[in-house]
Amino acid sequence: MMAKIKFRNQDVDIEDGSFIQETCQSFGIDFGCRNGFCRTCEITVIEGSENLTPQSENEEFIRLRPPKRLACQCKLLHGIVVIDKEDLY
Ligand code: FES
Repeated sequence: MMAKIKFRNQDVDIEDGSFIQETCQSFGIDFGCRNGFCRTCEITVIEGSENLTPQSENEEFIRLRPPKRLACQCKLLHGIVVIDKEDLY
């Protein structure tokens, strides 16, 4: 089955259960450590947060709160997720 990531006027289908990192990168979202510490990849989840894997230990450690997630830490289990990035202008 395929899941869908939407970002502004773009959407990309990925396999259920895949990391969203690569697709987010193709949307122009920047990454740093890729390990849940630097917060470069922080995104806002507008819709479908329940379709992502739960917060990682590192997201909990930095006390990230919904609707924020770290794109390097999330897999999309199924369905649709709609994301945005605040500082991408
Ligand atoms: S790239 Fe550093 S927290 Fe995601």
